[in-house]
Amino acid sequence: MALPAFSAFQLEELLSRYEQGIDFHFAESGVDPLHLSQLLDWAGEEVRASLDATALNYPEVNGNLALRQLIADRYPGAGPENVLVTVGASEANFILAQTLLAAGDRLATVRPTYMQIWGIARNMGVQVDAFELCESAGWALDHDSLSAAVGDDTKMLAVVNPNNPTGAILSSADRAAIIAAADRVDAWLLADEVYAGAERAENAPETASFWGQYDKVIAVGSTSKAYGLPGLRTGWIVAPEALIEALWRRHEYVAVSGSMLGQKLAEVALSPTVRPKIINRTRGLIRGGFEMVEKFVAGHGNQLSVVSPQASAMCFIRTHLPISSAALCERLRVEQSILIPPGELFEAPDHLRFSSALPADYLAAGLQRFSTLLADIGEA
Ligand SMILES: Cc1ncc(COP(=O)(O)O)c(C=O)c1O
Repeated sequence: MALPAFSAFQLEELLSRYEQGIDFHFAESGVDPLHLSQLLDWAGEEVRASLDATALNYPEVNGNLALRQLIADRYPGAGPENVLVTVGASEANFILAQTLLAAGDRLATVRPTYMQIWGIARNMGVQVDAFELCESAGWALDHDSLSAAVGDDTKMLAVVNPNNPTGAILSSADRAAIIAAADRVDAWLLADEVYAGAERAENAPETASFWGQYDKVIAVGSTSKAYGLPGLRTGWIVAPEALIEALWRRHEYVAVSGSMLGQKLAEVALSPTVRPKIINRTRGLIRGGFEMVEKFVAGHGNQLSVVSPQASAMCFIRTHLPISSAALCERLRVEQSILIPPGELFEAPDHLRFSSALPADYLAAGLQRFSTLLADIGEA
């Protein structure tokens, strides 16, 4: 079977081409990154000294045991043998697709979504079927579209929960429907949970993992989003042990291992003393940023609207404008030096993904410039 022509990951292409040197970067999907000095201040002198004494060797190829144990502790019933540490959630998703899918298979994925698995699968010759989150229902799952997207030959279902780009968290009824659909056809369920911990409400419980709710669940996590540490390039997969073995064999081809420093610092971030401080900071940035965006959107009520996100560093704003969201984002970039990904990159035209978990003065100045362009464009 001939493979389809290669399609680029357009969202990541937009970021890597334009994010350097832009005045206002509202396209990154995480919170304002944490500085090393803050992380180490929270960790204390003993940890700082032990890092100084670290040999910059390869770490354990499947992930240092101490880190795998800390990760496993967050997934009830999992042990370190259920964990593979990867180069970000990106490598995790990549090797999962490579290991579990083949040309001619079917993948069912939520839409809108972070389109990595989608694009990898398409490039492999896998048929991709979408099931929808419905904006008019507060981005709840459309159960009919789920039934239509999952067939007897579907090999994998993929969700991002909490969701990128909407910031929505699946309700327990929606989660149950997704598990039942996977179970009905004996498919894997890949739950990309990189935003768990990044809930907006101060005391919201952390979004529960799908792990443990069905025997073919794979949970993916990362230090990039809820922890504000994308530069560590450290992610993980939690899966049944036999699958971890198979993934580990792929990981040796793709990356050999992650980085020693990335893993040591991830250990610090996931430690019981430091983690609550990081999560508290993350949630503060998310709350403060969205409050400002909400006011901004309300102030442009004839041009923009938004369903409030429950989690993540961003929201998915609907545009009511005489131009497409792609054209708006292009003008924002070229005329105002503001980077925002348009909904077209999520197969959801007339939207933009706006990242706002950023320092208040930076966000205010960028929103001011955004207003200038909106005044020029006018209403639909
Ligand atoms: C849902 C989702 N999964 C995976 C990734 C990749 O993250 P990482 O930095 O861990 O590779 C991203 C990054 O934006 C994401 O939003």
